Amino acid sequence: MKLFIINGPNLNLLGIREPDIYGSKSYAALTEFVSAACKEQGIDCEIFQSNHEGELVDIIQSGLNNCDGIVINPAAYTHPSIAILDALKAVNIPAVEVHLSDVDSREPFRQISYAGMACIKTFKGMGFEGYRQAIIFLKEYLSKL
Ligand code: DQA
Repeated sequence: MKLFIINGPNLNLLGIREPDIYGSKSYAALTEFVSAACKEQGIDCEIFQSNHEGELVDIIQSGLNNCDGIVINPAAYTHPSIAILDALKAVNIPAVEVHLSDVDSREPFRQISYAGMACIKTFKGMGFEGYRQAIIFLKEYLSKL
């Protein structure tokens, strides 16, 4: 079983950006956490980060025949990007959405998720742990297919 873990804009600045919201741990710490969580579950993973919408679309498309599931935090592109929604629908690979913060208790514009419309589940407000929950959820979901 192989998962693509895809992170959107500004997540590369974790630890620096708004630590009161996103925590003090770096993006490198997140990739270590995710790699360890996948290893724990006996899952292969590839981890991506991009600040560019089109590149995120390319990464999602490259999942065709290359991964079984997608964990995605589209970051700011969550809310306005129909291109990311369409890419997830186009590849039709089971996807789970993750947000470090609890987007529902923030500004109203963060409560709309286009990407989430193509995802089977969302984990939000759990920090890094949300990625681990998404990985475990996808593993169970994929093993039942
Ligand atoms: C985020 C929430 C988004 O609203 C925001 O634009 C981000 C990060 C999160 O992980 O909490 O960049 O996706």
